[in-house]
Amino acid sequence: MAGTNGRFITLEGGEGAGKSTQIRFLADHLRRQGIDVAMTREPGGSPGAELIRKLLVEGPGDAWDGTTEALLMFAARRDHLERTIRPALARGQWVISDRFADSTRAYQGYGHGFAHERIEALYQLAVGDFAPDLTLILDLPVETGLARAAVRHGTEHRFESLGQVFHQRVRDGFRAIAAAEPQRCVLIDADAPIETVRDRVLQAVTQRLGVG
Ligand code: TMP
Repeated sequence: MAGTNGRFITLEGGEGAGKSTQIRFLADHLRRQGIDVAMTREPGGSPGAELIRKLLVEGPGDAWDGTTEALLMFAARRDHLERTIRPALARGQWVISDRFADSTRAYQGYGHGFAHERIEALYQLAVGDFAPDLTLILDLPVETGLARAAVRHGTEHRFESLGQVFHQRVRDGFRAIAAAEPQRCVLIDADAPIETVRDRVLQAVTQRLGVG
C-alpha cells in the first residue's frame, strides 16, 4: 500500500487500450467527490524520467534489449517515484499513473523474456515495498489495440513496431499478472465503447477503494 493519506492507482494495458481517456474520466469523477487528484505517466512523470522516456519510446524497435530497457524503465521509475509520486501522496493527493511496474513485467518480462526474478530484484532496489493501492488492467485484443494506436502517436512508436507476436505475449502477461495478484489488480474488459469501459473502471474503484 502507498501508506499515506493519498491513494496510488495505476492503469495498465497494451497499446491503444484507452488508458489516457479512462484516466481523465476517473480523475474527473474523483474530483467531483472532492478528492485532490494528480495524474502522471510512465515512462516519465518527472523532468528526469521524461528525458529517459525519449530514449525509450523513439527510434527503432531493436534499439535496446530487454535488460537495458528494464534498467532504463526502473531508473525512470525511481526518479518518478521520489520526485512526483511520493510528494503528491504526502500532500494527501490521489495519484493516478498511466502505467507503472506491471508494464515492465509485461513488456520486458513477458514480451522480451527478461527474467521475472530479475525484474522483482530491480523493483526491490528502485521501489522497495511501495506498491499501488489499486491497479486496473485494461484488456483488449492485440489487433484492436494496435490499430487504435497506429493513428495516434507521432514519433513515439518504438514499442508498437515490435509486432503482433510480441504484443500478444504482453497481453498474456498482463492477464497473468491480474490473475496472480487479484487483491491489487482488476482486469477490465476494454473491448467495448468508452462509456462502458468508464463504468467498469468507476465500479472497480468504488468497490475496491470505497468512493463513488
Ligand atoms: P505509452 O504509449 O502508454 O505512453 O507507453 C510508452 C511505451 O512504453 C509503451 O509501448 C509501453 C512501454 N513501456 C514498457 O515497455 N515498459 C515499462 O515499464 C513502461 C512504463 C512502458
